[in-house]
Amino acid sequence: MTCSGLSAKHGQEMSELHIIENGQVVITEGIIEFVGSSSEKYPVEHPENYEIIDATGKAVLPGFIDSHTHFIFGGYREEEFSWRMKGDSYMSIMNRGGGIYSTVNATRKASFEELKSAGKTRLDRMLAMGVTTVEGKSGYGLDSETELKQLRVMKELDMEHPVSIVSTYMGAHAVPEGYSEEAYIDYMLREVMPVIRRENLAECCDIFCEKGVFGTAESKRFLLAAKNMGFKLKIHADEIVNTGGAELAAELCALSADHLLQASEKGIAALSESNTVATLLPCTAFSLKEDYAKGREMIDAGCAVALATDLNPGSCFTSSIPLTIALACIYMKLSPEEAITALTINAAAALGKADSIGSIDVGKKGHLIISSFSNYRFLTYHIGMNCVERTIV
Ligand code: NIG
Ligand code: FE
Repeated sequence: MTCSGLSAKHGQEMSELHIIENGQVVITEGIIEFVGSSSEKYPVEHPENYEIIDATGKAVLPGFIDSHTHFIFGGYREEEFSWRMKGDSYMSIMNRGGGIYSTVNATRKASFEELKSAGKTRLDRMLAMGVTTVEGKSGYGLDSETELKQLRVMKELDMEHPVSIVSTYMGAHAVPEGYSEEAYIDYMLREVMPVIRRENLAECCDIFCEKGVFGTAESKRFLLAAKNMGFKLKIHADEIVNTGGAELAAELCALSADHLLQASEKGIAALSESNTVATLLPCTAFSLKEDYAKGREMIDAGCAVALATDLNPGSCFTSSIPLTIALACIYMKLSPEEAITALTINAAAALGKADSIGSIDVGKKGHLIISSFSNYRFLTYHIGMNCVERTIV
């Protein structure tokens, strides 16, 4: 299936996968040159320079796009996971100085090479599950030095690894010790973000808009300033408590509002009328034992929904695309078609890249998956299993 399109698909459009039976794709110098039936013999200029890959009997689809991860971090938090299983809450661990703060300490201590080597291992696993583009956030340094270190690691990995990386500055992940919320926002805007712009280290900015972290008014001030500096916007919105994050994302024309477990009807309506993608992260709800975001209701209301893993060392330590698909279909009631749209063209739109990735269309990057089964329904039916035979970048 091609998932053909150049922008996010809303509501019912999410069910259209644009299937070509017995299809053929021609990729020249990394760019898709032809998509159509294999009964036509497409005339390429130098056939001897092309590799022919026979995918007979196998479904071919666009590469998956994991549009929300925190994959560059130091240390692990396996102890917190067992505390949570015994009833401790995510926010209470963070308020005691653990949670994000614990990873901040470990990431500050980690060397550039340590972060890069762990990041490479994680990218290799993603590629094996069909991921061809991943978004990665900073936010485990808070101070300028470590935030820039995280972003520079991603820049090098992007150049060296087949998985493409879209970097997001998320210094606004937590307020560091010794700062008020307001003073820390001023620090980021003054000291860190001009350097990121100058060195072209991140395309997007994100903020954890949450009760007890960054309030809605301060989030708005930060995001508006980021937008003026040329960053595209993303928001961790309405994850644990409803703070009107969905509405804020729509108002600011953010690329995406992410999490949305507690989004209100008003918030869902605001997203459905906007171009902001509702990015749902079902593995996080699963891992935190929270209720899932209202994926079915959002699509029925006309939203453009994307799915992502949220890979991070705390709330959700998995980069499993098969688990994401299974939870989305079983608990958020997405159809197999909607889940695929949510991981391809809508995820591309959540990164502002629907014109170059996310579907098998002429002119887009040649990022494809050959699955091990004859049709896409196996991706949802073969629960939690990797149905990707080969990822092509
Ligand atoms: O998306 N909620 C904030 N940020 C991450 C978790 C980060 C962490 O716990 O290390 C999230 O869930
Ligand atoms: Fe996140």
